[in-house]
Amino acid sequence: MRAIIIEKPGDVNQLIYTEIERPAVLSDEVLIKVKAISINPVDIKTRTGNGVYGRISSESPLILGWDIAGVIESVGSAVTKFKSGEEVFGMVNFPGHGRAYAEYVAAPEGQLALKPVNISFEEAAASTLAVLTAWQALVKNAKVKAGQKVLIHAAAGGVGHFAVQIAKYLGAEVTGTSSSKHRDFVMSLGADAHIDYRDYRWERHPNQFDLVLDAIGGDNIQRSLVVAKEGGTVISIPAGLGEAAQQTAELKSIDAYFFLVQSDGEDMKQIASLLEAGQLKASVQEVFPFTEMKQAHLKLETGRTVGKIVVSL
Ligand SMILES: NC(=O)c1ccc[n+]([C@@H]2O[C@H](COP(=O)([O-])OP(=O)(O)OC[C@H]3O[C@@H](n4cnc5c(N)ncnc54)[C@H](OP(=O)(O)O)[C@@H]3O)[C@@H](O)[C@H]2O)c1
Repeated sequence: MRAIIIEKPGDVNQLIYTEIERPAVLSDEVLIKVKAISINPVDIKTRTGNGVYGRISSESPLILGWDIAGVIESVGSAVTKFKSGEEVFGMVNFPGHGRAYAEYVAAPEGQLALKPVNISFEEAAASTLAVLTAWQALVKNAKVKAGQKVLIHAAAGGVGHFAVQIAKYLGAEVTGTSSSKHRDFVMSLGADAHIDYRDYRWERHPNQFDLVLDAIGGDNIQRSLVVAKEGGTVISIPAGLGEAAQQTAELKSIDAYFFLVQSDGEDMKQIASLLEAGQLKASVQEVFPFTEMKQAHLKLETGRTVGKIVVSL
């Protein structure tokens, strides 16, 4: 089968096309013929030796990617939830070795859900790592309640555009940040208000939000702590918070933490039913063919993506 491997960390030229054997399935796994893959900033971080590179670098061949949608080709001996021919999607083995940049992927059945019939493989692949992150942050960690005021940073991006929709679904009053260019897109997701982060004076608007989801990191964590209410929550997803931010958080009794998304088929099932009901929708900005994975990475690396970038097979 065709696959893209990396032999050492670096730029997009380290994405090497090769032919390898189809993966063998363990008893609890299914073999998926991949139709679409979505890519995420963690793919780029890992390609360059950061992200989860340290966790998987000893494995060979090293194949990037976690987000797939496709058709089940065969099932392991202990699989009970799925059968051959069914269309599925999910985030495979994150934060471990997903091996998604390939024509066939072996995935534990417990990490998948049936693809809703009313969405394409491209939309399904887009609705995996990014939406699981938003779901696990807002529903499972922060337990957002109706009426709460929620700020979503990078609301036009992969995680953010799902987070706005999920926070609205939970009944929150939602503000999203982006550049003014992407304001209309953020508002179209259901946001109640928009902030252009480029000219906003954060210090003039303290103590506004019950929850801030920070997808930017760095200085943005301190800004998030300013606008979070005393006793509120700040979840930062790019990296850890750092000591200074933890101290600021303690002074305001803010529950501030980093969390890492995990593969979870039960969460995928709930996401699938929201997608099926039209209560959640992936926005796919661009679809690249498998032969253009390098161009797909370069596009995502601009940091200006609206919604998701998908690669189709
Ligand atoms: N911990 C976890 O489990 C986890 C999971 C998923 C993602 N992440 C991390 O979360 C981050 C975001 O991921 P993503 O997939 O959403 O990225 P993405 O899709 O690449 O985000 C692109 C968006 O970021 C916006 N943006 C850039 N700078 C901004 C700023 N200063 N303020 C507000 N918006 C800004 C851009 O909007 P404009 O063009 O309008 O500026 C663009 O729409 C990455 O660092 C990723 O690795 C962590």
